[in-house]
Amino acid sequence: MAPFTRRRLAVTGMDELGAYRVLRVADPDAPEPDPGQFAMLAAAERWGGGDEERPYLPRAFSIARRVGAESHFLLEDVGPGSRRLCELQAGERVWLLGPLGRGFRLPPARRRSLLVGGGAGIAPLAILQDGLAGEVVVLLGFRDAARAQGAGLLDGARVATDDGSAGHHGPVTDLLAAELERDPLALVYACGPAPMLEAVRAMCAERSVPAQLALEAPMACGFGGCFGCTVARRGGGYLRVCVDGPVIDAEQLEHVDPHAGAPA
Ligand SMILES: Cc1cc2nc3c(=O)[nH]c(=O)nc-3n(C[C@H](O)[C@H](O)[C@H](O)COP(=O)(O)OP(=O)(O)OC[C@H]3O[C@@H](n4cnc5c(N)ncnc54)[C@H](O)[C@@H]3O)c2cc1C
Ligand code: FES
Repeated sequence: MAPFTRRRLAVTGMDELGAYRVLRVADPDAPEPDPGQFAMLAAAERWGGGDEERPYLPRAFSIARRVGAESHFLLEDVGPGSRRLCELQAGERVWLLGPLGRGFRLPPARRRSLLVGGGAGIAPLAILQDGLAGEVVVLLGFRDAARAQGAGLLDGARVATDDGSAGHHGPVTDLLAAELERDPLALVYACGPAPMLEAVRAMCAERSVPAQLALEAPMACGFGGCFGCTVARRGGGYLRVCVDGPVIDAEQLEHVDPHAGAPA
């Protein structure tokens, strides 16, 4: 369990990675995260709250990597919160609550892992790859070549782009289908936009391949209190993505909710 208080941390750097940014923060007291866990982040200064404005809620980001005492996050500028975080410079401060949620379960020895990511959803696959010992295949999909530079976050990734400007021209699930053809005993770990996750879920269900899906959903609290992040569970009821996930076994879902994936 993460300490249930947020920490005020110093930004140590902000690196460009194609269309993305990698935010580095010094977090020496962080509990070691499981791959797939996330944190709620807010800039300590200029976080909404201008004249007659309310401050923004913190935003959820996967922990992309731990390097020594630093935590790294992959950011895509998609709106006011992520834009402010992308502007941060070394020496500025952030509030961080985490690590939160349930991460990926590591595979048993000798099973090949297929890591399938899309867009900013590749972030939790980086820290997962860092922790995997056996054979790992990394398949990443992006909209275009600028975003495909994000693949540099992982080692040895094969890339697909929607517009064909880098790697395979087509969805990353084309690459996944070929890999599953070669090795139907592989285990699949995926994170990305909802349509990609739904295609991965359906493909794996058809072949009885176990898949763990890291979902995203609009989150207000990040720790189970607001019920803003619920998705339907197969057979009835619901799951809160922040505490029952974000990593959820694909077989727990009838389908991936269109709102439960990274922004496309
Ligand atoms: C567990 C988790 C891990 C995440 N990890 C990353 C990450 O590693 N890197 C990254 O860039 N982003 C990640 N996100 C998404 C990130 O939280 C949102 O992009 C961010 O909150 C958007 O805030 P904003 O103020 O910039 O934009 P907003 O104006 O709030 O939103 C911009 C657009 O993105 C959509 N959106 C907002 N939040 C979410 C969300 N949580 N899920 C799906 N769509 C959303 C909105 O509907 C809108 O269309 C993650 C989300 C979750 C829940
Ligand atoms: S974000 Fe509040 S319950 Fe999940």
